[in-house]
Amino acid sequence: MKVGIIGAGAVGSTAAYALVLQGSASDIVLVDLNAKLAEAQAQDIQHATPFAWSSRVRAGGYADLAGARVVVLAAGAAQRPGDSRLDLLERNARVFRQIVPAVLDAAPEAVLLVASNPVDVITDMVARLAGPARGRVLGSGTILDTARFRALLAEHLGVSSASVHAYVLGEHGDSEVLGWSGATIGGLPVAEVAAQRGRPLDPAIRAEIDESVRRAAYRIIDGKGATWFGIGAGLSRIIRAIDQDERLLLSVSAPTAEIEGIADVTLSLPRIVGAGGVIATLFPPDLSEEERAALRRSATLLREAADSVTL
Ligand code: 2OP
Repeated sequence: MKVGIIGAGAVGSTAAYALVLQGSASDIVLVDLNAKLAEAQAQDIQHATPFAWSSRVRAGGYADLAGARVVVLAAGAAQRPGDSRLDLLERNARVFRQIVPAVLDAAPEAVLLVASNPVDVITDMVARLAGPARGRVLGSGTILDTARFRALLAEHLGVSSASVHAYVLGEHGDSEVLGWSGATIGGLPVAEVAAQRGRPLDPAIRAEIDESVRRAAYRIIDGKGATWFGIGAGLSRIIRAIDQDERLLLSVSAPTAEIEGIADVTLSLPRIVGAGGVIATLFPPDLSEEERAALRRSATLLREAADSVTL
């Protein structure tokens, strides 16, 4: 499994590190405008391989991406404290206009996995630039918000997060929708599990969990300048699902023909991920009216943001 990573900053390099720890790639190529940074990150990560799995980790140029099955796009600016993800759009769209044709030239068969923010709008842009390869474009989307939601529910209810089935839908950003109505544990609705466990999910607790998920990145950016461990692990998990053709259900971002009356919009829904990227989408049936309306608002906002981008 050869993986290319464009952008050797905190997110790209942590994804490479997570791939090495999980043994999910045998050959990793880091590409960055700052060649010295890419070289330093590659060497540092290579030195972890004797403690993990043997993988080749190197810095390179676009030509070295030939034969990559997945190329992670993690280049561009990150949020500064106070920025929303959508504030990055203009800056990162400019970067992606240059990167995408070079990646498509070098690795025309690769799945393109977008991590840069605003991830849904950038994924939409990459899909449009990819033309016929559009079906092989996906974004990390709300994979991290879903992980944050599950971790908090798990902690509140005293169960493993592996047993929580719950998704965050829509934008990876301020308008995201926590799917409370469809959340289950052991096949039971979360509210019922909460009652059985004597830890009710009253409106105050729900509001606290919602706020913690939605504002997580702002708090982390305020404390340490950026987020990288969660997303690095999430990217590595997506890549393993692709490599093993796992058909794993993940909330990732991809072009969607229609959702809640909004046509042709790129956002996160639960999707089956395997070889080739997104294999199918599951449309969430168990949303309340309020959640549906919030998903419609999120989709509308993303559609408008995507319309503002020139290719
Ligand atoms: C995150 O949610 C900043 O999008 C990044 O961690």
